[in-house]
Amino acid sequence: MDEASPTPAGLVPTAVQRTARVIEQVEMARDTFRLRLECPELAKRILPGQFFMVREPGLTDPLLGRPFALFDVACDSQGEPVGIDFGYVVVGKLTRRMVRWKPGDPVSVCGPLGNGFPEPCDGHLVMVAGGIGQTPFLAVTREALGQRRYGDPPRTAAARPELTLCYGARSANQLAGIDSFPAEGLDLRVATDDGSHGHHGFVTDLLQDLITNESAPTMIYTCGPEPMMEAVAMLAAEHDIACRVSLETPMACGFGACFSCVTRIRLDNGQWDYRRTCVEGPVFPAEKLHWSDR
Ligand code: FES
Repeated sequence: MDEASPTPAGLVPTAVQRTARVIEQVEMARDTFRLRLECPELAKRILPGQFFMVREPGLTDPLLGRPFALFDVACDSQGEPVGIDFGYVVVGKLTRRMVRWKPGDPVSVCGPLGNGFPEPCDGHLVMVAGGIGQTPFLAVTREALGQRRYGDPPRTAAARPELTLCYGARSANQLAGIDSFPAEGLDLRVATDDGSHGHHGFVTDLLQDLITNESAPTMIYTCGPEPMMEAVAMLAAEHDIACRVSLETPMACGFGACFSCVTRIRLDNGQWDYRRTCVEGPVFPAEKLHWSDR
């Protein structure tokens, strides 16, 4: 692995910029893939919910990298973090090229970036994901179950919450990575728009049912399409449940320099201001977000 530069413009002291190598590429669902990159320095530091910028070295179109959230860290036989896994859907120029990446190919990565999810809380943690928005929740789950520690120094998850993942997709063939989630200790509930797997309807129906008829969440984490996350945030507010939202705002630099990723945030004094999703997010308290005019 070749070192490119120590940090991205010195703006994110914990981040590293490296030329990593592809270890493997696996198809997870229709047009959805998981890439594993060899990058021990990043694998040791990254937390669930953080992301990194990825670009193809030497490529000028697209010139800029794209952000990808951590799916999980890959460890060697001694349990040492050596690689990072992330998921992507083939939707644009870069991802159409990524499909052709093979083991040994060089990839430029910069991270870890962003704040990530907080350490697991006590009580009942419910994760609500739509589409590729399930990506951050494998690492959240493994940390909450005590199966893996993340960060440098590795943070200790003192709490062992009851865990539920509500995962929605358009159809069964677009459910990505559900076999990767632990079968023990996680209540995995699935919804599809066409009814081909699990509940026929919205993933928010699963959350509504859980809140109304079962043990209400202590905390909700959500990631996916904005209308889904807004509906989750509304349900959380209605039932006075703490909620953290991971935004998937388009980004250019990823480390705070360009302001292309700003989002409107409510301030404590009732006013609002802009915050950069890449450095002050991507995880925000749901009640701070201005949903109506995003
Ligand atoms: Fe450049 Fe956030 S992507 S400031």
